[in-house]
Amino acid sequence: MFLKREGFNHARFRRDIVGIDKKVPLAGGGYASYVNLDNAASTPVLRPVLDKVIEFMDWYSSVHRGTGFKSQVSTHVYDEAHEVVGSFVKADLSSNCVIFVKNATEAVNKVSYRLGLAKGDLVLTTMMEHHSNDLPWRSKAAAVYAGVDRRGALDLDDLETKLRQYGRRIKLVSVSGASNVTGFKNDVGSIAAIAHRAGVPILVDGAQLVPHSPVDIKPDDHPEHIDYLVFSAHKMYAPFGTGVLIGPKRTFLTGAPEYTGGGTVNIVTPETVEWAGLPDREEAGSPNVVGAVALASAIQYLQRQGMRNIENHERTVTSYALKRLGEVKGLRVYGETDPNRTGNRVGVITFNLDGIPHGLVAAALAWEGGIAVRNGCFCAQPYMLHLLGLNPQQLSRLIHKKRAGDLSGIPGMVRVSLAAYNNKKDIDRLIECLEKIKTMSRSGELAKRYALCRETGAYYPRDVKVHPKEVFKLE
Ligand code: ALA
Repeated sequence: MFLKREGFNHARFRRDIVGIDKKVPLAGGGYASYVNLDNAASTPVLRPVLDKVIEFMDWYSSVHRGTGFKSQVSTHVYDEAHEVVGSFVKADLSSNCVIFVKNATEAVNKVSYRLGLAKGDLVLTTMMEHHSNDLPWRSKAAAVYAGVDRRGALDLDDLETKLRQYGRRIKLVSVSGASNVTGFKNDVGSIAAIAHRAGVPILVDGAQLVPHSPVDIKPDDHPEHIDYLVFSAHKMYAPFGTGVLIGPKRTFLTGAPEYTGGGTVNIVTPETVEWAGLPDREEAGSPNVVGAVALASAIQYLQRQGMRNIENHERTVTSYALKRLGEVKGLRVYGETDPNRTGNRVGVITFNLDGIPHGLVAAALAWEGGIAVRNGCFCAQPYMLHLLGLNPQQLSRLIHKKRAGDLSGIPGMVRVSLAAYNNKKDIDRLIECLEKIKTMSRSGELAKRYALCRETGAYYPRDVKVHPKEVFKLE
């Protein structure tokens, strides 16, 4: 497939973001242009992706099921989308398959099922994982964790030690490509080489990496080959419900899939079942062809821009953000804080402001400045406990309080996460608003204006002029 590389045009990329200039209501009245600094959760959609989806809807029909012309169009497009995804990360599709799932979480769960893990088996993962790359392993086998250093970067020596220590019991090494808390990137090539030397395959959770950096899973016989890669379309400008799992065909050709039903079989008799080939046997039920079109279109857009260009732009803005956040008195950034060291990270930055709860900072950013961030523990609680340095007594007090239905004072951080369309002005708006929040806190206005909901731990402005329920109606 020939793709014209246009080169990275930041102004154009930004214009192509749907809703980029959307005005949102502020607590005290008035409106501000929305600044989305919550891209690690979900990115907005790109206009060309949305246009492609709308164009496709004229042709939308059943996939792999109908004889009608539109069904054939849909089938063709759906199959081709698998190839677009595979070639984006240079997968050899003669031995590997691309399986569409709902999201990266479902992809990890699918691998945990398909590995046929048994009692006594172990998966070596790390202390810096999202729950989605931790809990599935706990439920199917048992997980062991490679440690992280004080700032939260992976301790490769510990990973190697644990591989040696547990030997043959380890069936998989499963690591995030980049952390959704500190933005630290893992050297997945080196980790793959270490794992392969021990005869163990590797899974990379690419949810926070694939949208921001070039990823090459390398040929199957390469020491740095990534055996399994998972990622999510809603974090890469295609929020239509698709996730990706890439892995060796042989893994999915043994035994029955965990979801069975329509589309997964060649022949069924009352006594026997002959499963279909791949990816069909792993994509039970009518597939999400709209999501596949959107993801393929987003990938083609990113390829035209050049993933290396995107990475470089995001590094520049990350460096600027770290520099400006470093100038805010009383603000503590976690992880790597040096603006000149952006080589091993993505644009995910977490911080706390002295004396102001993270939930209150996040609420005030939204309602005073129209700035979207995420706060809390980011579905990575073991990592957060480490970064926040909580001791077991503090932890047990927290669990006790939580069980009593009180989430006030729950530890956490504020997270800013960047994407290719963000710019330095977005960061200036963030800094300006953080200074305003500090001033409001000192004067007591912040406490007056915001109320804490003990059951959720979230803060809300007491006086909302326009409620979120009012701006978009289902009919
Ligand atoms: N995993 C996503 C995040 O970190 C949802 O926000």
